[in-house]
Amino acid sequence: MTSTSAATRPSSQLDFGTDFLFGSATAAYQVEGAADEDGRGRSIWDTFSHTPGKVLNGDTGDVAVDHYHRLEADLDLMQRLGLGAYRFSISWPRIQPTGSGPANQAGLDFYSRLVDGLLARDILPVATLYHWDLPQTLEDEGGWPVRATAERFAAYADIVGRALGDRVAVWTTLNEPWCAAYLGYAAGVHAPGRTEPAAALRAVHHLNLAHGLGIEALRGVVSNDPRYSVTHNLHVIRPEGPTGPEAVRRLDALGNRAFTGPMLRGAYPDDLIADTATITDWPFVADDDLAVIHQPIDVLGINYYSTSRVRLWDGAGAKQRADSHPAGGASPWPGTDDIEFLPQPGPYTEMGWNIEPEGLYDLLLSVHDQFPGQQLMITENGAAFADQVTMVDGRPRVQDRDRIDYLQRHLAAVHRAIEDGVDVRGYFVWSLLDNFEWSFGYSKRFGIVRVDYDTLERIEKDSARWYAELARTGVLPG
Ligand code: NOJ
Repeated sequence: MTSTSAATRPSSQLDFGTDFLFGSATAAYQVEGAADEDGRGRSIWDTFSHTPGKVLNGDTGDVAVDHYHRLEADLDLMQRLGLGAYRFSISWPRIQPTGSGPANQAGLDFYSRLVDGLLARDILPVATLYHWDLPQTLEDEGGWPVRATAERFAAYADIVGRALGDRVAVWTTLNEPWCAAYLGYAAGVHAPGRTEPAAALRAVHHLNLAHGLGIEALRGVVSNDPRYSVTHNLHVIRPEGPTGPEAVRRLDALGNRAFTGPMLRGAYPDDLIADTATITDWPFVADDDLAVIHQPIDVLGINYYSTSRVRLWDGAGAKQRADSHPAGGASPWPGTDDIEFLPQPGPYTEMGWNIEPEGLYDLLLSVHDQFPGQQLMITENGAAFADQVTMVDGRPRVQDRDRIDYLQRHLAAVHRAIEDGVDVRGYFVWSLLDNFEWSFGYSKRFGIVRVDYDTLERIEKDSARWYAELARTGVLPG
């Protein structure tokens, strides 16, 4: 137990207990850099970011925050912060440069060093197999809209499982397949930048299938006793007015239940199939697929940032489109031309996302109601703010009170959900380091550690110190 007992603790303090994991998260393309080194192939994000006009300021992940070369120093940083766990992703094109064929040993060696470095520092390795960097060759062969990509993913999972399957504690197959499918293939604001709603629905299914095949492959080769998971950005959607509930139902089907249905219940929701009938009759779902997708998982990962508010559009006036993704582009939501996204009241983060900790509480309760007994982890939560570096006592300092407030209030919401019976086992702040924020390039800073993009020097923000104290005590100051 923590040193402060419940009896002596000020009532405003919230104790998470000693078993609760406090970690931080990153993803390969956002932090590694070393894009052309040690045999790494190209991913769809290399292609996309090098295409003029796709990423703000023409930024790319070529160098990112150079984590690939600064691995030891970054591991030491994690240790200094007292992290209990580190959630990272594995770059598929580092392991299989063209998405199939034999493993690139240098790629496996990097992740092996990372995992060993974590374990040596008592930090639990939480590995994600797919955080959006599909090998470009596989996109050239059709990408996620084709079945072969899911089959390739299984072979990739097998390779990684054999190499690291004696040491990784938690395996996550996919990070936010919603983004991979809908932002990548419908909105076109993420790689590969396609705007084909029917292809996006095919991508949804093949990502689901990849999850199932990936877990099967891992189970066949790992030698320790890891926990299996998948991470979703489940949407918290608020209804507005009399047509709000219908709009919410449809978006919940497309955005949440299209994934949790097959993965956790073994079926696509009937209303999803009915709602999308003018786009597809889902002929790509083969007979046995749902049994493959419906793998038992140990823990469900949830990424949470913000909420939206919707109603059906009555056709009068300009349709409001305050989607939760601010990069614009086509709609990520196939078949929802008649749905209106209304602006949410502030305050907002630098992403323009409304800050609503209550949304996280509501989400946790809702997932708990839908899937009783399911263990959960908050695999991402955090905020971009326009941090300022000031010199204090001759040293650079980032006094990011706004980020501390954000984390504090969201963690309090998590604590309240736990008190109300939800089984939440851990929390990972997004992100350890400022990094490449996809179509926003380096313009949005989510890190609890600042990265100077000229020198690549790391500076612990005040939020990092605050988070380290929380990780050490397990007690959230009120
Ligand atoms: C979700 C994604 O998993 C991560 O890559 C991204 O940087 C954060 N959200 C912030 O947008």
